[in-house]
This record gives sequence, C-alpha cells and structure tokens, in this order.
Amino acid sequence: MAVWIVVYLCIMKKQKKIIVANWKMNPQSVGEAVKLFEGIKKTASTLRNVQSVVCPPSIFLSDLQKLVGGHRCVLGAQNTHHETSGSFTGEIGIAQLKKAGAKYIITGHSERRSAGETNEDVAKKTTAILKNGLHAIVCVGEIERDEHAEYLSFIRKELEESLSGVPQKYAEKLIIAYEPVWAVGVKSTKADTPEDAVEMILFIRKILTGIFNKKIAFEVPVLYGGSVNRKNAHSFIVTGEVDGFLIGRASLDAKHFCEILDTVNNIR
Ligand code: PGA
Repeated sequence: MAVWIVVYLCIMKKQKKIIVANWKMNPQSVGEAVKLFEGIKKTASTLRNVQSVVCPPSIFLSDLQKLVGGHRCVLGAQNTHHETSGSFTGEIGIAQLKKAGAKYIITGHSERRSAGETNEDVAKKTTAILKNGLHAIVCVGEIERDEHAEYLSFIRKELEESLSGVPQKYAEKLIIAYEPVWAVGVKSTKADTPEDAVEMILFIRKILTGIFNKKIAFEVPVLYGGSVNRKNAHSFIVTGEVDGFLIGRASLDAKHFCEILDTVNNIR
C-alpha cells in the first residue's frame, strides 16, 4: 500500500464521522419537522464520535434553530444562491441561511444537477459558502457505471470543475459527498458496495491531491450517499472507509436514522 494511503488512514480514523440527513422536500409541516428533529436530536446530542447535521427544507430552519442545543446535532441547508443579496426571485442567500441556523450547506446534489445546476454554479456556491465561514458539502457522482470505466473521467471532471477557484485556505471546511446517482433516491435499485466505494473514495482523494495538495486531500472528509440504511451503514464505514454519510430516505424516520447514528458511533 502506498505510504500516503497509510498516512491518510491513520489521520482519518481519529476524526468524528459526519452524518448528514437530507430531508429533501419533506416533511409537510413545521410540526412534523419539529417532531422528527427532536427524535433525531435525542440520540444525536449524546454521541461523541458522530457529528450529526440535519438539512431540512429551508422554510423550517428558523423553527428548528430554537431546538438546537449544543454542537453534536446541528442544522444545514440543501442549497443556496451564491450571491449575498439582490434580484434573485425565489432564491435564498448564505447570510440568510446562516442567520436561520445553518452551519453546513449542500451543493451540487444530483437532484439539483438534473434540474440544470452546472459544475460552474456548484463552484461559485461552494466558494461563497466557505468564504462565509460555513461548511460546504459538495456532491459528486456518476450517472451510471459503464464497463469501460468512463465514469472515472466523469468524476474527475465533475470534481475538478465543481471546485474550480475554491481557495486552498478555505479547504478546512470542505466536505465531499460521493453519491453515485444510480444509487440515490426513490428510483434507485441498490446501494454501491463498500468494496467499490473504497476505491472511489481513494480516487477522489487522488483528484483532491491534484486540485489542492496531499495534506488537504487526506484531511477533507469524503462521505458516501445513496441508499444508506441501518443494514449497510456498518460495512460502508469499516470496509468502505468512508468518513460518514449523506442520507435521504432513512433520515425521515427518527428511529431508523438514530440506529445508523448509534451504529457509526460505536465503530472504533
Ligand atoms: P437516499 O438519498 O439515501 O434516499 O438514497 C441520498 C441523497 O439523496 O443524498
């Protein structure tokens, strides 16, 4: 095994795992959002080895902000505009999200990319988030895994362009989420395997080395997302060597989500 991989494994083992709940366009009312958040917080706020981040629809952030108690279970947003203010009908800016309690913001989720978001948009948003002192969770992932391994060049291009112009000095708050699109959401049929995921995580670190440097590439957390559940979470952490998860469906059930949090917290 290359020396840099060994160094990376030693450094990363010591960091807290980051588990992000992406509620997407759920639930339907503030009352349900409060109940779900309280259910997650009850467990999440007791865990030492896991940083939990709940990303509700932005309209619920202010109400949930009143319930956050401590740093182990915090809030995030699912998207932002890159400008601070101006004539952008329907958009929400970073300063507004920050005031409403968001500490993390997701960029480039595949469901936004499929609605037209480009790598260039993702790069602008990511830079703006980091400049504002928040954590940026940048999603990348191939649409399909072809036999000729063209998905590797796809990921390289997507990551390089999505991080284009992101200053090195802000990389401390950068997080990458590897989400193979074919494994994400209600239309997916299966998750990736932990064995394949570990190769992709190392490939992503290699690209990060080219974009930034080896040190940053070792330190940036790389999460996995796509059909994560209580059954596969353990093996993605242990065999897949991922630094945490971005979870959709399983984060809408507090009991199910807390089982994942507990499982990850107990891996040492
Ligand atoms: P899923 O969604 O866990 O429902 O596959 C993941 C995501 O969209 O981030």
